[in-house]
Amino acid sequence: MMSVKPFVLTENDFCKNDELTYPFEERGLQFGDGVYEVIRIYEGHYYLLNEHVDRLYRSADAIKINVPFKKQQLIEQLHKLLEKNQVAEDAKVYLQLTRGSAARDHTFPVGVDPNFYAYVQDFPRKREWMDQGVSAIIHDDVRWDLCYIKSLNLLPNVLAKQTAMEEGSFEAILHKNGTVTECSSSNVYLVKNGHVYTHPAKENILHGCVRMRVEQFCKDLGIPFIEEAFQVEDIQLADEIFLTSSTAEVMPIVKVDGKLINGAKPGPITQTLQQAYEQDAGITVNSVPNSVPGTN
Ligand code: PDD
Repeated sequence: MMSVKPFVLTENDFCKNDELTYPFEERGLQFGDGVYEVIRIYEGHYYLLNEHVDRLYRSADAIKINVPFKKQQLIEQLHKLLEKNQVAEDAKVYLQLTRGSAARDHTFPVGVDPNFYAYVQDFPRKREWMDQGVSAIIHDDVRWDLCYIKSLNLLPNVLAKQTAMEEGSFEAILHKNGTVTECSSSNVYLVKNGHVYTHPAKENILHGCVRMRVEQFCKDLGIPFIEEAFQVEDIQLADEIFLTSSTAEVMPIVKVDGKLINGAKPGPITQTLQQAYEQDAGITVNSVPNSVPGTN
């Protein structure tokens, strides 16, 4: 089981995780009025920390919440969070910023400070899934137009991922009128004739931090990275499909709605990008493999 570490960072200072409480009239709880980040840690070191912190500020700015720290201050506190919890293993940090605690009213409360917390949880790599690949389903993207904001409003994502899970799959590939956007909690890519295709970083997808790195890996490796949306019907003709996120890394998708991709094997470009990821993240230790979902 994944365990939460004892010290939590708040907007004021550190506290123990069982000391953190909020009033029931809290904007994040009542309106999903806030933003969040999930940051990966390998052997006690952050991966892509600046990128995640930058995105947190962009998301907060987009919904007019002031982050109660300067960027550098937040980065220092996040490092302290790992030190205080003596994190030396593979882990992740969840951090969340809401518009604060106030009497329930849709309009912004006046003179109310935002609520912030960040906590650490150990998180082993999904090695076996990354080696074997996972399956996915196709699902309607019924989200709003501003998915570049990493907002707490995740109901469509939750429902899509739950459907995927109930159908024995790892992820839901989302589409709007046949055009693939991303997955419920990751970005998605199609490989055809040695080219990597993915939806452009417009307002209707999250601009993944791993996506940003994958673009750079492709440039470095001479693999054309094409920001051009593909269609649901292109998937069955794809050479490879993969997804990326801070928790799933570079994950091959080898079955979509029951149809095999590349004979149900991770393809060579996906594997090359997996190696580039491991190198970039400075990964040296193989952790204990997990069981494999969605291979039915
Ligand atoms: N999800 N798209 C969506 C909708 C996401 O929720 C995520 C991340 C990504 C990938 O972003 P990144 O590469 O920065 O992790 C794309 C996180 C992991 C989550 O909600 O748990």
